[in-house]
Amino acid sequence: MKKLFTTLLASVMCLAALTACGNKGTKDVLVVGTNAAFPPFEYVGDDGQPDGFDIALIKAIGEKLGMEIEVQDMEFESLVTAIGSKIDAAIAGMTIDEERLKSVDFSEPYYDAIQYVIVLKDSEIKGADDLKNKTIGVQLATTGNYIADEIEGATVKSYNKGVDAVNDLINGRVDCVIIDKNPAMVFTEKFADKLTAIDGAEFDFETEQYAIALPKGSDMVEKVNQALADLKEDGTFDALVAQYIEEAE
Ligand code: ARG
Repeated sequence: MKKLFTTLLASVMCLAALTACGNKGTKDVLVVGTNAAFPPFEYVGDDGQPDGFDIALIKAIGEKLGMEIEVQDMEFESLVTAIGSKIDAAIAGMTIDEERLKSVDFSEPYYDAIQYVIVLKDSEIKGADDLKNKTIGVQLATTGNYIADEIEGATVKSYNKGVDAVNDLINGRVDCVIIDKNPAMVFTEKFADKLTAIDGAEFDFETEQYAIALPKGSDMVEKVNQALADLKEDGTFDALVAQYIEEAE
């Protein structure tokens, strides 16, 4: 009898444990798209999973909202159109811009950026006029791509990954690469003997602001903004900047 009771008790405890697990499973999931080829904001970590500032930030936001974050790595180009269908949001060092605002809403900005110009160390490119008629590498469908498209006489080569543009710069297939400041610094650092990165201010590029993209009219915008504000207030945001961004500089 006692034995039977113990067995019964064990099964009941098992069931309780299962239910506890089940509850966790029913926690709301926010599927967040990124393009993990943009260090230090997102990259594939040693364990093969997306990591970086943006990933840590969205997970912290998920914690504040009591939501489970599922990160989906995809092409940068596909992110905006996937919002509202394949993904619930995107965090990808994405600059708020007019064109994107036609199809998505953005959270409050969380980071200020500007495009940088990566060149070979002995390059003659120093300012805006020097970019004319050059072959310029960019990451497809990014603000760097949009800037390059406007440069007089320039031939623009677009790549799915910024690092591929940088490799073509080293191989002499492009004259420079236009890409956001922080990734520019990470890529330049990797090939410090060959490359140097020039501040976009020298080329009169405008500052940009990164924000989280959400479906148009979504009530998540306010919730995400509140979570962002809370993370700034409690010091988590600054700790992530120190851990992921300042560390990479
Ligand atoms: N800030 C630029 C833009 O919004 C580039 C972002 C690229 N991000 C990435 N994860 N690949 O267009």
